[in-house]
Amino acid sequence: MKGNDITSVKLYKTVYLEKDLEDFRFNDFPFVGRSNVGKSSLMNYLTNRKLAHVSKKPGKTQSINHFLINDELMLTDLPGYGFASITGSQRKKWDKLMATYFSSQNIKCLFWLLDSRNYLNSSDQKMLDFVEGVPYDVAIILTKVDKISKNELFKARADIKKAVSISDDMIINTSSSKNVGKKDIFKLISKYN
Ligand code: GTP
Ligand code: MG
Repeated sequence: MKGNDITSVKLYKTVYLEKDLEDFRFNDFPFVGRSNVGKSSLMNYLTNRKLAHVSKKPGKTQSINHFLINDELMLTDLPGYGFASITGSQRKKWDKLMATYFSSQNIKCLFWLLDSRNYLNSSDQKMLDFVEGVPYDVAIILTKVDKISKNELFKARADIKKAVSISDDMIINTSSSKNVGKKDIFKLISKYN
């Protein structure tokens, strides 16, 4: 991908069921994080379009949504985790769908979103264990940095580096409402695409 130039965005596929997952010929960059962390807002900001539904109510995104960018790469919006009011059997199905999806050969870098005001809370723990074991790169996207001070941001990044084995350049500050971070994310994607 060259620069920040998004010329086309298509909803390539929405997946609810494991059997509908497919191997496609594009590199895939999934966005994962707790419900309400700002995934859909970030997708909209990155693509400059109203793609994904933004909601005050957590748990809005319930499917895997693959967006094909410039006919050359996939950005994938995933259901948020840590959403309390889904039932046990629903959760099991989701967990299985996610596990199969996360083993996809197409994934080049997983973008893990953490709320900069409330990072690595109890619902993030499972994901913390998970990301340590994946065979592809992981970048941490700090969301809503407009809500915190420079000092708080500094502390957040230091705390995260203590908890996760990740290099500084793989932690990206973003704010969808204040247009922060797009360049850094595309710069990272362009290393693979
Ligand atoms: P689910 O689909 O429910 O898992 O949520 P999500 O992670 O897609 O979050 P979504 O983008 O819907 O945003 C959740 C809430 O956070 C909304 O009220 C957004 O307006 C708000 N929000 C998202 N990004 C930002 C940001 O950068 N700054 C601020 N201040 N608010 C944000
Ligand atoms: Mg969403």
